[in-house]
Amino acid sequence: MPVKREGDKVATVVVERVETPRGELVLRRRGDDFEIISNGTFLMDTRDGTSERLLVRAAVDAVGRPDLRVLIGGLGVGFSLGEAAAHPSVGHVTVVEREAPVIAWQHGPLGRFSRHALDAPHVQVRHEDLLDWVFATAGPADDPLATYDALCLDIDNGPDWTVTESNRSLYGREGLTALRGRLAPGGVLAVWSAAASREFEERLAGVFGDVRVEEVPVRVPRGVPDVVFLAR
Ligand SMILES: C[S@@+](CC[C@H](N)C(=O)[O-])C[C@H]1O[C@@H](n2cnc3c(N)ncnc32)[C@H](O)[C@@H]1O
Repeated sequence: MPVKREGDKVATVVVERVETPRGELVLRRRGDDFEIISNGTFLMDTRDGTSERLLVRAAVDAVGRPDLRVLIGGLGVGFSLGEAAAHPSVGHVTVVEREAPVIAWQHGPLGRFSRHALDAPHVQVRHEDLLDWVFATAGPADDPLATYDALCLDIDNGPDWTVTESNRSLYGREGLTALRGRLAPGGVLAVWSAAASREFEERLAGVFGDVRVEEVPVRVPRGVPDVVFLAR
């Protein structure tokens, strides 16, 4: 059903509204752009993927080797996935997404925002809760996908603003230690956030030692920069 706000020149249209085990997920379109709303809270839109792409590029460039295995946590509209799939140093991408409709939308109206990366032979999608994968016992040492060279995580609005309560444990000491265990030697963890977090930065440094923070200005007037935490 079209939703029109006063003063809007372009109508916002609900493309699909789906009930999931975690509540309502809505895909809306406004002109050429789309946005995903989770239980009434903004999750992601297609207007500007600068920091979501940087999340991947900064991690991959920091590893600095060819033929990398990259894991993307959270598909969203597909900007991070598209960046990983197209990067010349990346040999394999696994994208982990908890919501089936988000995967289905990538095969439909959102596919162009990843340049249809889910169709590429070196890309695998796992319909799974990322935390289940992180906290599961890693597969046999000879399983090439037991560990990754870059773990690029963007499943929340940031470590201090998670979309579900269950996601919080990923950013605690136990979660970060489990993530470290899923990195190949010399690998890099990258975490996206809508705001800086001194507390999280210190926790990261406690687990990883080497931490770098990149800030990306946002287009919203007076908005605080997006942040990418890089740890190894
Ligand atoms: C902010 S969006 C990701 C944006 C993405 N970087 C992009 O470029 O479009 C967050 C995504 O993470 C997913 N997500 C949230 N919690 C998750 C979890 N625990 N496991 C897997 N996916 C999760 C959401 O369904 C959503 O698709």
